[in-house]
Amino acid sequence: MATLVLGITAAAVGCHKQSPLTAQQAEGQMLFNERCAHCHLENDLNLKPAPPDIRGALTRGALPDGAPATDLEVRRIVLNGKNKMPSFSGRFTEPQMEALLAFLHTS
Ligand code: HEC
Repeated sequence: MATLVLGITAAAVGCHKQSPLTAQQAEGQMLFNERCAHCHLENDLNLKPAPPDIRGALTRGALPDGAPATDLEVRRIVLNGKNKMPSFSGRFTEPQMEALLAFLHTS
């Protein structure tokens, strides 16, 4: 019986895409969709080169440019901007920043 329960738990954890987001991750997803996705997914400003897809970068441990993806590095880029990416300094409260990072740890 114990083995059966363990097996089910492992299957649920392994099933990444279908696991529901926590409230914090969902808030981060909303912020990402509102503030980041129009560039990073849709490239609505037609930037060249196109902003890279950064979803899942914190899970993979590497940013698209190959730099180590850490919470600190992503936070630094969001606050300072990077080349054509504008600075978001003062645009997110601390809980919002943490939610954004939590979302970038999913998928
Ligand atoms: C105006 C368009 C734009 C918006 C809005 C934007 N970005 Fe970016 N972002 C860029 C571009 C362009 C780059 C590539 C910069 C470079 O490497 O030259 C980039 C790079 C990054 C990188 C680094 C990728 C790497 O490989 O080094 C991270 C992390 C990132 N953005 C996160 C975010 C987050 C989080 C948001 C929302 C809060 C956001 N960006 C909003 C345009 C944007």
